[in-house]
Amino acid sequence: MKTFSVLIIDDECAIRSGISVSLSEAGYLVESCATGRDGLNRALNGNYDLILLDIKLPDINGMEILKTIRQKQLDTYVIIMTGFASVQNAVEALKLGAYDYLSKPFSSDELIIVVNKAIEHKTLKDDNLTLRRQLYQKYDFNKIVGDHPLIKEIFAAISKVAPTDSTVLLDGESGTGKEIFAGYIHTLSRRASRQFIITDCNTFSDSLLESELFGHVKGAFTGAIQNKSGIFETANDGTLFLDEIANLSLEIQGKLLRVMENHEYKPVGGNQVKKSDVRIIAATNRDLQTMVENGEFRPDLFYRMNVFPIFLPPLRERRSDIPKLAYHFLRLACKNTGKKVDGFSDDAMEMMVNHDWPGNIRQLKNVVERLVIMSDQAVVNYNCLQNHFEINRHSEKGSVPSTLAELKSFKRDLLRKEYDKVEKAFLQKALTAENGNISRSSLRVGMQRSNFSTLLKKHHLSITTNQNPALTVTK
Ligand SMILES: Nc1ncnc2c1ncn2[C@@H]1O[C@H](COP(=O)(O)OP(=O)(O)OP(=O)(O)O)[C@@H](O)[C@H]1O
Ligand SMILES: [Mg+2]
Repeated sequence: MKTFSVLIIDDECAIRSGISVSLSEAGYLVESCATGRDGLNRALNGNYDLILLDIKLPDINGMEILKTIRQKQLDTYVIIMTGFASVQNAVEALKLGAYDYLSKPFSSDELIIVVNKAIEHKTLKDDNLTLRRQLYQKYDFNKIVGDHPLIKEIFAAISKVAPTDSTVLLDGESGTGKEIFAGYIHTLSRRASRQFIITDCNTFSDSLLESELFGHVKGAFTGAIQNKSGIFETANDGTLFLDEIANLSLEIQGKLLRVMENHEYKPVGGNQVKKSDVRIIAATNRDLQTMVENGEFRPDLFYRMNVFPIFLPPLRERRSDIPKLAYHFLRLACKNTGKKVDGFSDDAMEMMVNHDWPGNIRQLKNVVERLVIMSDQAVVNYNCLQNHFEINRHSEKGSVPSTLAELKSFKRDLLRKEYDKVEKAFLQKALTAENGNISRSSLRVGMQRSNFSTLLKKHHLSITTNQNPALTVTK
């Protein structure tokens, strides 16, 4: 695990040491200094992930240091510490590129929440950049994506169980990857060269399912005009993936238990016992234990199935995999549609990482595919995502935050949204005053041309022609 480094710039000794202790205990590598000059020097020459910067320093004003750090485009996040807790101060700091602010005095808990949040955000941004850079490198579309610790555990368990003939029970919400993992187990097994058959117990009526699985003899029921072999015959020596076993009738459960224990079964309507050697991988998203208690599922079959259970966590419990999965599906959608989309903007990615994804990976895949189809820009941005995928985090979770962390995040988002509106109007005003000339507009407001252009891009503002400097919003 990477250790993140933090630089504290504050002239008050007690504050420096208090922050140092809290952040060191939380696992950060901490350095501190007491003057603006020393701080700026270190910031420019060091490689810090985060700087905690006091506004009121004896030699240089904190805002000036922040400005220089941003002008030099250092890859470091800045959190401003201010004794003057006012929205103006905070907005000013955010405007100059600070990630967040802390108003003194603050508690150790507050500090850790804000610092963790900034580091999480920075990591996400760095990962997004790396993934975007790797987008068009040679790629294996068949791979199962994910390296969250929970997924690593699953891979480790699968590498042990796959080569055996043991039954595996995959338990997970819809769209968590039960089928893809079942296929993976098969490919790692000694049966890999034989059939992998998928049967969804949801899609058949009881009688049809029984005949599907075990076959039937001629005359077994109306319409059975000839003998028909079932899946247990076709899948012999191979693997059968039984999806949603909670829907099996008690009668079929009994037959299934028999074939799993003795490798024997009888086709519907027949007396002749047939033999089959099939490895079963079963899946469910219902609580089979409770069904056993309610008499809806045979306990003996449950124990037979439950020899090697694997729980597939919902996507919201493995959020760190979302960026990699999103890029995986982006590549796939680009390949399938022939479109070229270069990636996701940082705020779009942040929105995806924070979404709860009730439909799990399948939902993420569908959303990304839709975004690629709809996209007419190089990068999927926040607006595209919001337009095509009606997520409103705050309205979904209810507009009243329930923890301090949520309250702070709410405040930050609110500030940012309000600030963004002002920033856009500010750019438009400058451009209108200078007839759309970017160099003059940037001079007019006292910004470097490159920074001004970056802001134009951020707000999707472009100049249509020199003669007609009307601003267009590119969506
Ligand atoms: N880790 C992963 N890496 C890449 N693709 C994945 C991953 N997990 C799932 N998918 C893809 O997401 C989609 C849903 O996965 P899958 O069908 O395996 O889920 P499921 O749990 O069987 O869902 P359901 O319960 O609805 O049948 C599939 O297109 C699958 O290929
Ligand atoms: Mg499935």
